[in-house]
Parts: sequence; C-alpha cells; structure tokens
Amino acid sequence: MSDDIRAEAAKYYDVNPTIPDDIPFYQARLPSSDAVVLELGCGTGRVLLPLAAVCGFIYGLDQSQAMLARCLQKLQAAAIPPTKARAEHGDITHFALGQRFDLIIAPYRVFQLLETDAQVDGLFQCVRTYLVPGGTCILNVFHPQGGFARVQQEWGTTTEVFRWEVLVDGVRLRCDERLLRLDPERRILYPELVYRRFVGDTWVEDAVLRIPRRCYAPEEFEQVILDHGFRIVQRWGGYAGERYGEGPELVVQFGA
Ligand SMILES: C[S@@+](CC[C@H](N)C(=O)[O-])C[C@H]1O[C@@H](n2cnc3c(N)ncnc32)[C@H](O)[C@@H]1O
Repeated sequence: MSDDIRAEAAKYYDVNPTIPDDIPFYQARLPSSDAVVLELGCGTGRVLLPLAAVCGFIYGLDQSQAMLARCLQKLQAAAIPPTKARAEHGDITHFALGQRFDLIIAPYRVFQLLETDAQVDGLFQCVRTYLVPGGTCILNVFHPQGGFARVQQEWGTTTEVFRWEVLVDGVRLRCDERLLRLDPERRILYPELVYRRFVGDTWVEDAVLRIPRRCYAPEEFEQVILDHGFRIVQRWGGYAGERYGEGPELVVQFGA
C-alpha cells in the first residue's frame, strides 16, 4: 500500500473550483524577473508553472509522488526546461538543497498541514537556511473566521458538508467534507475530503483524503513567525485586497 495520502485524491486537485485565484498575487511578489524561487509543497504545479513563466528559476518540493507526477507531466507538456523549473520529492520541514532563494512561498494553505511543533520548527529552520540575505518568505493559512470556538461547534460529526461539484469531459465530480474529529487543545481539525464521481445514476466514492488542518487566529499566525526570529514585511487577508484579519485567508510575508 502507498504511503502517499494523496495517491488517489491527486487527480481531483486541479479541478477544485474553490481554490482562490492567488496566482497574480504570487507573480506580483517576485522581487525581479530573474528571481530564484522555492515553492514548498508545490503539488501539481498549479502555481509553479505560471510563476516559471515570469521568474528566473523556480524549484518545487513536495512529499506526494502522485501530486509531483502531475506537476512533472505539466512541465513536460509545456516544454519548460529544467534550467527554468524543477520539482522534486522532499519534506518541506527537513531538506537540503545546494542553493538559496530570493523568495520562498507555500501557496494554498500548505503551512496548516504541519501538525506538530517539530514540523513547524523544521520549516522555519529551512526557510532561514535557504533565503538569500534580504530574501522573503510568504506563508498562508485559512482564517478561522469567528475564532476557533465558532469553528469547533461545527466539528465532531459524521455529517458530510458539500464543498464543490464540477463537470469534466462529461463526468460529474464532487467533493464533500466530513468534519470528523478535532483536537481542541492543539486546535487541529482532522477533515476527511471525500471525492466522488457520478456513474450512471449514482455517486460513487472514489477517494478519501485525510489531512490535519491546524488553525491559527490572525495574531497567532503572526506570532509563530515572530517567535521563530523573523520580521513581518507585509500581510493580507486574502487575494482580493482584503485587510489582514478581515478576509478568508491569512497571508504573511516575512524576512530574516
Ligand atoms: C493544498 S496542496 C498545495 C499545492 C500547491 N502549493 C498549490 O498551491 O496548488 C498541499 C501540498 O503540500 C504538500 N505537503 C504537505 N506537507 C508536506 C511536507 N511535509 N513536505 C512536502 N510536501 C508537503 C502536499 O503533498 C500537497 O501537495
């Protein structure tokens, strides 16, 4: 059995219509058109490919072979050479690379997938090691609006909540979420994302993705960055101009 938790779910990633339109945001954060960028948790290359078109070089790391395979296929299909973009297998909390980067990013809430403090410490240690002097890192988590107490009320149930549905090449695909379990002490939600396709007249369960989703209030997210010895450069509440703490996302840019 594969130890890649995304082995079956990876094929649904790129059709998810609820992923925020964050690509122009990350393109606008490039310090120059020849900037060297590291994407932590590059997944299927959703952000990596469009960034490759406008930066000097981008390197992606991901621990899911299934997500990476999709990224590599797309790089090949787009004829993007390895001098411009590469994506490799690795753990973003513990890695060794032979170069440093002007900008390090982890789009679409990668940081909240780190369940333990040791993983969080490991990621910040790597960021410190691999940023050039003056370089910056941008991390993003979802904003638990109304606070953890409100979020908590919806959890601990086997009820499925509809998330999205799309039609791809005549096949209906959908995702529901089971708000199954949470750890109130550590403020971690443990959702099950259930992916289904419509066969004949019925929905057939195809893949289930079980992930941790660690929750940060706006001030906690900034504090964890400050506690690791970085300084905040800028912060946003989303990708449509929302103020920090007032939108659906928490996005923070910081440097050493
Ligand atoms: C929500 S996806 C985001 C993908 C991409 N950044 C994007 O914006 O589309 C999260 C990705 O982070 C990867 N990931 C989570 N924890 C990781 C870790 N410790 N090391 C490497 N990759 C990790 C997952 O395998 C997955 O591909």
